[in-house]
Amino acid sequence: MRYGHFDDERREYVITRPDTPLPWINYLGSEAYFGIISNTAGGYSFYRDARLRRLTRYRYNNTPFDLGGRYLYLRDSASGDFWSPSWQPTQSELEDYECRHGMGYSAIASRLGGIEAETLYFVPVEENLEIWRTRVTNKRDSEAKLSLFSAIEFCLWDAWEDQTNFQRNFSTGQVEVEDGVIYHKTEYRERRDHFAYFACSEPLAGFDTQRDTFLGAYHGWDSPAAVERGKSFDSIAHGWAPCGSHHVELTLAPGETKEVVFVLGYSENPVDAKFDPPGSQTINKKTVKPLIERYLRSDEVESAFQQLRDYWSELLGILQVSTPDEHTNRMVNIWNAYQCMVTFNMSRSASFFESGIGRGMGFRDSAQDLLGFVHMVPERARERILDIAATQFPSGGAYHQYQPLTKRGNDAVGSGFNDDPAWLILGVAAYLKETGDISILDEEATYDNEPGSESPLYEHLQRSLRYTLHRLGPHGLPLIGRADWNDCLNLNCFSTTPGESFQTTENKEGGVAESVFIGGLFVLAAEELAQIAERRGHTDEAETYRADGAKMDATVREHGWDGDWFRRAYDYFGAVIGSKENEEGQIFIEPQGICVLAGIGVDDGKAEKALDSVASKLACEHGIVLQQPAYSHYYVNLGEISSYPPGYKENAGIFCHTNPWIMIGEAIIGRGDEAFDYYRRINPSAREDISELHRCEPYVYPQMIAGKDAPTFGEAKNSWLSGTAAWNFVAISQWLLGLRAEHDGLRVDPCLPKEWESYEATRKFRGATYRISVSKPKGVCKGVTQVSVDGKKIEGNLIAPQPAGAEVVVEVTMG
Ligand code: GLC
Ligand code: GLC
Repeated sequence: MRYGHFDDERREYVITRPDTPLPWINYLGSEAYFGIISNTAGGYSFYRDARLRRLTRYRYNNTPFDLGGRYLYLRDSASGDFWSPSWQPTQSELEDYECRHGMGYSAIASRLGGIEAETLYFVPVEENLEIWRTRVTNKRDSEAKLSLFSAIEFCLWDAWEDQTNFQRNFSTGQVEVEDGVIYHKTEYRERRDHFAYFACSEPLAGFDTQRDTFLGAYHGWDSPAAVERGKSFDSIAHGWAPCGSHHVELTLAPGETKEVVFVLGYSENPVDAKFDPPGSQTINKKTVKPLIERYLRSDEVESAFQQLRDYWSELLGILQVSTPDEHTNRMVNIWNAYQCMVTFNMSRSASFFESGIGRGMGFRDSAQDLLGFVHMVPERARERILDIAATQFPSGGAYHQYQPLTKRGNDAVGSGFNDDPAWLILGVAAYLKETGDISILDEEATYDNEPGSESPLYEHLQRSLRYTLHRLGPHGLPLIGRADWNDCLNLNCFSTTPGESFQTTENKEGGVAESVFIGGLFVLAAEELAQIAERRGHTDEAETYRADGAKMDATVREHGWDGDWFRRAYDYFGAVIGSKENEEGQIFIEPQGICVLAGIGVDDGKAEKALDSVASKLACEHGIVLQQPAYSHYYVNLGEISSYPPGYKENAGIFCHTNPWIMIGEAIIGRGDEAFDYYRRINPSAREDISELHRCEPYVYPQMIAGKDAPTFGEAKNSWLSGTAAWNFVAISQWLLGLRAEHDGLRVDPCLPKEWESYEATRKFRGATYRISVSKPKGVCKGVTQVSVDGKKIEGNLIAPQPAGAEVVVEVTMG
């Protein structure tokens, strides 16, 4: 069953009924001001940091699930009937409803009693504000007298404080209302230099800023007192819960449309110019007023919206493909790329599953996200790399997370996840291959944000690799530390205290528990660093890294091979995990993926055997589960992984992040049908028809789909913010379609299903445009036999970078 459909032409998903199984959301904003918006206008906004600068309040895990957002109410003055044109929160029976989630905007339209309303929500490029443009049309044959109310609830900035410190919060709230603009200025009188504003293009019949006055005692958002009675109270908040609501009266002739624009924004003032007049307690509004005036104008809104559309056309235009499969085209050309940009902006901080207060930016998460967006915004990838590197410890180790606002490591989450440093090498390698900008290696970055500790980025990478080398266990495999990629495989933890966080609780030193996964990752990272070293002319160093990599490769084959697949780890006592010897958790997906990706066992058949074992033991119709058999009870020596009921999350869920590693592995050994089959199983667009089972948005990847041991097998969770976005993008575009940026050019090395005959792509790479057509007349999966550039045959399948501005035609023949 579907709840809508794709409109690929407009790059939108169109939801046609409001009661989706879960809120189906979208993101607003592209640089500093962001918002989450659901298909019924739920959600919230923040400036840079969802925890530290939250503008509007949102209560997670609410009932209904999604309540609170950017609401509007329409009230018919004649009957007194009122409704929300976005369905929530009144849930009135709309005659028509449509939500179009597009690239950086959402438009919600509906009709009730002959009154149509359509609201477009978006954040103009480079502005710290959001626009709601509402058009109300009277389709009746008589005049309509209506009241339109807006409603938001202000958050008192720090979202954690906001939900916990009520003895203070109920006394601090402050607002100003001037010329119909509502200013939220809690704590501005003391240490904050920022405020929020909420403006409306039309003359007001009234306003409210005190939530409980607007709603009325014991009323909810579905029946605000002001809306019920058809008149605002003009309330001014003193403490309690400041809100923002405008009241506009509209008289519409039959057929007439009126447009009302609302602007909600964030602004900062210099510390010495906070007040106007100086010495008063009134916000200095000099800089913000022109901005407000500008964006309340219809023509400015229209051109800002056009600019947003152009922004996305340009980004998405960097890679466009046309293949025989519509799900591939749609995901590569639109949604997967878009999701990669969203994960770049959000890391794992704010979604409907990430509360914005739990996690900042992940070290390994951000480094992997980079793989998916570096081709679109390389300058911002550069900045991100340097930010991440600056939080690294002198040992090469890493804070697991950092806060985007302060860019400092997050002490609360700590460190010791021993795979973290290696991902930085992979992220930097991806940046270098895309851009050729080796100057980044000379950029100075601090350690632990400590001024004076700077060293060139290159040294950060050297330390990253050494971090693993200096932490090897009894078999010569890397020590796992707190955990490796699998946050929940906590082999040194032994937690028996209820509620204790596995991520932060004291970790035993041990020095025994090893990770085969980090072994594979090390082999991969060592080769990447060797290539980078070569580019700096350090051939000796490159040789050392290759030797280190080869040694680890041999160690993995010796101690990480179980006969039919790669083992997962050795625990605190040196016992094997992910082996036939185990009763549960005999085989894990991660080492099969990463080891093959690193090339381990590709030459001696181990890779093929490992992937065959994945196919027979882990693959199922909804994707590939993380391990089998699922852990049926809690194992104190394994940690969080066994805390999940079987089939969920890391305990044998389909952890989608890992599936592309297997697709890539299959592509490396040339099995295009298998690779593509796995791609299809978790492709959200291909799952659209089972939306009632899948439940999450059909346009973006979820982190997890419940595995075969779960009672809800096939049900997705944790959509949007997941390494799944970047890795699927890498798998399909670089390994299946086979368009790979390398240091010396663009590699074309597809691995495709047998039945595909051809595909076409446009790829912009280092300033030149490549119009590529791949033909495959003989039904092979892999193997390029001829490449020509502008009609001239080249040696091999690596196309040297073409001059910036050039546009070349590339013809590729396989088989
Ligand atoms: C989550 C984390 C990621 C981790 C994965 C597996 O997606 O964000 O860092 O690798 O879980 O535990
Ligand atoms: C939990 C989740 C895991 C996530 C981690 C991050 O352990 O299960 O997926 O990576 O939290 O803190």
